Amino acid sequence: MASDMFTFDEQMGELIGRYCIARLRQQPIELDFGGVTGPFEQELVDLLGATGNDPEVVMERFTRVIAPRVLSADSERFLAFIPGAPTKAALLFDMVVSASSLHGASWLESAGAVAAENEVLRLLGRFAGLPETCGGTFVGGGSMGNLSALAVARDTGRRRHGAHQVAIACSSESHSSIASALHLLDVEAVVVPSQDHRLTGAALAHVLASRQSAVPVVGVVATAGTTNIGVIDDLQGIGEVAKAHNLWFHVDGAYGLAGLLSDRLRPQFSGIYLADSFIVDPHKWLFAPFDSCALVYAEPALARAVHTQHASYLDAIHTNAVEWNPSDYAIHLSRRPKGLPIWFSLAVHGTTRYGEAVDAACDIATAAARLIEKAPHLRLLREPELSIVVFERIGWSDDDYEQWSHDLVRRQVAFVTPTTFEGKTCARLAFLNPRTTTTIVREILESMA
Ligand SMILES: Cc1ncc(COP(=O)(O)O)c(C=O)c1O
Repeated sequence: MASDMFTFDEQMGELIGRYCIARLRQQPIELDFGGVTGPFEQELVDLLGATGNDPEVVMERFTRVIAPRVLSADSERFLAFIPGAPTKAALLFDMVVSASSLHGASWLESAGAVAAENEVLRLLGRFAGLPETCGGTFVGGGSMGNLSALAVARDTGRRRHGAHQVAIACSSESHSSIASALHLLDVEAVVVPSQDHRLTGAALAHVLASRQSAVPVVGVVATAGTTNIGVIDDLQGIGEVAKAHNLWFHVDGAYGLAGLLSDRLRPQFSGIYLADSFIVDPHKWLFAPFDSCALVYAEPALARAVHTQHASYLDAIHTNAVEWNPSDYAIHLSRRPKGLPIWFSLAVHGTTRYGEAVDAACDIATAAARLIEKAPHLRLLREPELSIVVFERIGWSDDDYEQWSHDLVRRQVAFVTPTTFEGKTCARLAFLNPRTTTTIVREILESMA
């Protein structure tokens, strides 16, 4: 009977519960997926058909075939790209969000969930020094946060500058999602040359003064923690130039802006208070599960003017001025309240411990830099500003880096991928998980001897 699907099955509940608890208890967290795939997809083809299967059979296939072929981004040995390292509190509460089928499109349907998410957004806004009236929403990731914010930058810029075709300034170090967003929005990207990998107010002012094109620059994107090396742009200088030229100032802090919670790092973000919008991804350095990006506007009404969706059946959610509809602030309507796992974890642990966890990643990055400096076969390419270390193995070719990377993950030592820095292939360690130890770093560095 179809209705059986909606009756709680105690055995299935226990099966899933046992798995989740075992995974949550796992310490250390296994990396999994050593890159050896083989023809495993064949083992999945018989499951989906007109009739169902015993949950034990399906779960066995998940644990044997699927899970080992997914790298654990929360492993202390995952040091590639930007890892994730959710707190157990955030993970557990994510299960509550799932079990309760919580949604968060509108105030009418989910005022409680939205109010809790807004508490987190306000907290982040306060750390940034934005007006108390700031606000926004949580979206699925930094790419969607940037796209949503830049849509507001474009439309506000069109109005302010009286032009349909507009341009937005960014730097060559901006995340790839910025170029992608500008392309989708049909906005010209004006790439301002960075100085020592940092976008500065002076360089922006120079580009604006020397620009010949009739297409007005209406906004600028700064990065608070570049993805490749963790550099924080000159937020104060860029913000001041933006204000002087009536530009929208967006700060992409998907990775680095978590540093606002650290007493030690906070001064490095001075100038963030000038932002018209910023993003920070809790699924990165704010220790929440995928997928979650906090998008905050200094003047939320400007975002509402762009993102509010209109339809007769939606009139019911727009009935009064005090309601707060997340759908008014980004490109989404139905949504999971992606801010609730971090809300719970912050409420349980407090911001001080978050700041300490952020500092722990910086400490391990500094310790790694010192170990690299001492190793005769390695060369540190830049002192880490946040928690990313780039370094070179003297004498290695691109192929050597590639083979080393494959070998490390195959042996489950670490997941580390090469990058390029100043035209050279090199190694990159992105620290985020406070449980990553110098012992792990030593193992990685010794594997390059
Ligand atoms: C600075 C920056 N912006 C944007 C993004 C994109 O975020 P997401 O992968 O959540 O879409 C990243 C991802 O690493 C990032 O580092």
